[in-house]
Amino acid sequence: MQFADFWYIVALSEQLQPNKVLARSLLGEWLAIFRDENGKAVALRDRCLHRNSRLSTGKVCQGALQCPYHGWLYDRNGKVIAVPAEGDDFQPSLQRQAKRYPTKEQDGYIYVRLADNPREDFAPFSMPYYGQPGWETVRVINRFANNVTNCAENFIDIPHTAFVHPGVFRTSRQQKLEMTVERENGAVLVEYRHETSNLGWYSRFLNRQGTEIKHCDRFYMPNITSVEYQMGANRHLFITSQSIPESDNSTLVYTDVTYNYGIWNKLARPLVCWTAQHIISQDIDILSTQGEVIGKYGTHFANTPADTIHVFVESIRDAIARGEDPQLLPNKSVKVTFWV
Ligand code: FES
Ligand SMILES: [Fe+2]
Repeated sequence: MQFADFWYIVALSEQLQPNKVLARSLLGEWLAIFRDENGKAVALRDRCLHRNSRLSTGKVCQGALQCPYHGWLYDRNGKVIAVPAEGDDFQPSLQRQAKRYPTKEQDGYIYVRLADNPREDFAPFSMPYYGQPGWETVRVINRFANNVTNCAENFIDIPHTAFVHPGVFRTSRQQKLEMTVERENGAVLVEYRHETSNLGWYSRFLNRQGTEIKHCDRFYMPNITSVEYQMGANRHLFITSQSIPESDNSTLVYTDVTYNYGIWNKLARPLVCWTAQHIISQDIDILSTQGEVIGKYGTHFANTPADTIHVFVESIRDAIARGEDPQLLPNKSVKVTFWV
């Protein structure tokens, strides 16, 4: 198994308008993405075969992509279908075919996979309750100057919230929390207990009775985190993040905040959007600092029991990096007590 075997978001569906071409980086590969005549997304290596200009700076004509330098024209398969300098003498040839990658469109996202023939065919992650009646989704995109592992760890890390997001998210009160952390089948599942009213003003609005909040965090290989809050019987919130590796120290994160707040659904939208972006901006800053230090001194972490989640996430990502299948790692379940 390798990271290239998985599907990664490269754009929102709405970002890829007909006759538009987008430039993207994925696992160090450069991509030019556009729609063919039928509206299907096409991903080509962002490099013209002729004199190596960038196809993503060209233009789309009737579902084909034209290089901006000498006008070579590429079809949906990456095949060169016209060379202006050859005029009517042009003969298509098998050698003239740009590298093309498979695409999929799902839940309002466009996905690309770099591996042509992965040993296991994973489907793109299904975003919980996206587009379903009664549910609302706020979607934000942010770039982090750090790698996928550290981004994913941050998104399901409780102890930092009191320090990086004081007030808005959580205030430090040295409250004892319990969690069960499980590693199973390439995923990490975390269940928290005794979490009641320490979630800032946000929860006072949504959880006026102060009932116990059901809180589960999850990591799914190779790059997805999910934070789930259930407050009372019918208030539900999912924060699902897909961390897309652009390069070793640049990660583009697509975050869906999906919730059912009943009659508050539409009204809550601007508030949810502002809060999500506010919290994420604070994480961008702290992760950029961490990325800088790792760039200088390398990664050397010291763990406490509260870091068990991260140790499991790292074991899964390290296995993929070694070419192994993390689904074969032994199942583990650990009970942890920690303070926030
Ligand atoms: S470099 Fe693309 S057509 Fe010449
Ligand atoms: Fe955070």
